[in-house]
Amino acid sequence: MCVKMYEIVKAEKLTPDVTRLEIAAPKIARKAKAGQFIMLTVDEHGERIPLTMADFSAEKGTITIAALEIGKTTRQLGTLKAGDSLFSLVGPLGLSTHLEEFGTVVCVGGGIGLALMYPVVRALKEAGNRIVSIIGAKNKDLLMYEDEITAVSDEMFVCTDDGSKGHHGFVSDALQKLIDEKRKIDLVYAVGPIIMMKVIANLTRPYNIHTVVSLNPIMVDGTGMCGSCRVIIDGETKFGCVDGPEFDGHKVDFENLTARNKRYLAEEETSLRIFQGAK
Ligand code: FAD
Ligand code: FES
Ligand code: MG
Repeated sequence: MCVKMYEIVKAEKLTPDVTRLEIAAPKIARKAKAGQFIMLTVDEHGERIPLTMADFSAEKGTITIAALEIGKTTRQLGTLKAGDSLFSLVGPLGLSTHLEEFGTVVCVGGGIGLALMYPVVRALKEAGNRIVSIIGAKNKDLLMYEDEITAVSDEMFVCTDDGSKGHHGFVSDALQKLIDEKRKIDLVYAVGPIIMMKVIANLTRPYNIHTVVSLNPIMVDGTGMCGSCRVIIDGETKFGCVDGPEFDGHKVDFENLTARNKRYLAEEETSLRIFQGAK
């Protein structure tokens, strides 16, 4: 069977609001590394959006993305079916996760961050680390990638905000417990909502535990040309797309990132309204 460039080979819902797409992209799949992202355009009138690769297979010639449907483009992605094709796909972009044998790595993920976390946990495990994973979601139905992350972790803690599965509370509570138990922790890797990464970085700072976070500033070209993805790291301006997306969590100006990510709210609402009206 002939598969078209950027054809969707599999489309499925992981939760009511998260769509996972496996896409034919052999050249990207061959080069992809954990922590990297792609920029895609759904159709010829669409905007470019960045999404982290939740998986990739050089053998199958595919990459996998998981998108939380929050606005116009991600909802449009959620309407795609196997056999549809994307207008464009660029990648792999960004620096890959820094891999070495750190010792014990605690990987913390929340919400859509769980999909992004999986290839990183797998790569850190393959690099010889002992992995303790802490995953969280609002409730048990919104937990994703639990089986996959468990398979590449030495220890696993599940947290839900409503207590419907695992620990009743936040991922930060579970991490605090490990620290209080005086566990040996050589690195913390956190990916998820900005507020979650900020809380985790603030938690580990007094204990001097090196903490890496995966940032999600607004990106336009994804290749270091437009400046949209500026983030402040240790008082210096960096570009999320080419200097990141992973940075030392203790050096990130999270207030600046939060404010900058809200700067097109009016346009995003208008775009979603038009898209919903046009359906
Ligand atoms: P909109 O209504 O346009 O925007 C909703 C919110 O999303 C905005 O307020 C803004 O905070 C953010 N956003 C909007 N446009 C962009 C943009 N061009 N770049 C970055 N953020 C934007 N989301 C996932 O669900 N899965 C992922 O794997 C994932 N990986 C990401 C990797 C990177 C490196 C970055 C920077 C972001 C990633 N995101 C991921 C966020 C995703 O890009 C946005 O949720 C998406 O662009 C929203 O588009 P929208 O049109 O549906 O929503
Ligand atoms: Fe344009 Fe990073 S997205 S410089
Ligand atoms: Mg948008």
